[in-house]
Amino acid sequence: MSSKQIVVSGIRPTGMLHLGNYMGAVKNFISMQNEHPCFFFIADYHSLTTHPNPKDLHNSVKQVLAEYLACGLDPEKCTLYIQSDLPQIPELYLLLNMHAYKGELERVSSFKEKVRTQPDNINAGLLTYPVLMAADIIIHRAHLVPVGKDQEQHLEMARTFGNRFNRMYDIELFPEPQAFNYGGELVKIPGLQGGGKMSKSDGENNVINLIDSPNVLRKKISKAVSDVTPTEANSVPSQPVQNLFDLLKVASTKETLDFYVDAYANCNIRYGDLKKQLAEDMVTFLTPIREKISDILANEEYLGKVAKLGAEKAKESADATLKEARSAIGFRKFY
Ligand code: TRP
Repeated sequence: MSSKQIVVSGIRPTGMLHLGNYMGAVKNFISMQNEHPCFFFIADYHSLTTHPNPKDLHNSVKQVLAEYLACGLDPEKCTLYIQSDLPQIPELYLLLNMHAYKGELERVSSFKEKVRTQPDNINAGLLTYPVLMAADIIIHRAHLVPVGKDQEQHLEMARTFGNRFNRMYDIELFPEPQAFNYGGELVKIPGLQGGGKMSKSDGENNVINLIDSPNVLRKKISKAVSDVTPTEANSVPSQPVQNLFDLLKVASTKETLDFYVDAYANCNIRYGDLKKQLAEDMVTFLTPIREKISDILANEEYLGKVAKLGAEKAKESADATLKEARSAIGFRKFY
């Protein structure tokens, strides 16, 4: 077995990747696959808590798979699979559920939040979401879990359930998974509506999706929030203006950025020109990746190969763990 730290992370099959996801989470995965044995999977079981339309489920999974591949996840370097291809995960989930208590599950903030926001659909899957996530992680005996800050409590539960299993059955099976937090050191990508972070929760016009067509990009960027032209030289840009500068940093040349930063300092910045330039540079920046996504989406054979290879590699690791877990619990075959 490799002595390197094992990485596991799950990807929710919700919608399309935007520039913020790409510069944050995805780039981080791409670099990790070169350093560690990595298991990345599309968490389609988790998405069932909100009862997706059966017609949409497969396409949502396909879309994220194609997008991650287009961004550079390499199925030869990492193990990239679909969660529902691995029956070992629900099996471990069942075993872990026997030692997961109602009280501790009800205290999880994401659960309490759902109780508030969707009181009509508080199902058992939602309550035991952290147990399924723990199973995802510890089935490969992971050490590192690259997740955003919002998942830290879930990760704490994964440690609790893994440790509890070890203690109950007097076995050293599951290591303690630690967060590999990618919030800090990465470039922050702001949204287009003047707020802090690019996020779909502030509406479709706030985000730049990887698959947005040139015309959609032009339209969204032309509507981006800016500000009045400053009247005092060298003033500090307001948040919406700083956001535009930050987006120029991603897609444009340093000369372009410097040109607009200087224009701002000299009180003769023209936001219309800036946005036109930003839109064209964003089109140039995103076109190769958009084309790659659509090529991959059209290539069912390739997607099939990727999913099959991933399922096989993940199964090997999951089977080994599950075998030990079942034996520790006391299951013996009669035949
Ligand atoms: N809950 C995670 C999210 O909402 C997705 C996820 C499911 C996950 N299983 C995981 C992340 C296992 C890391 C490890 O983003």
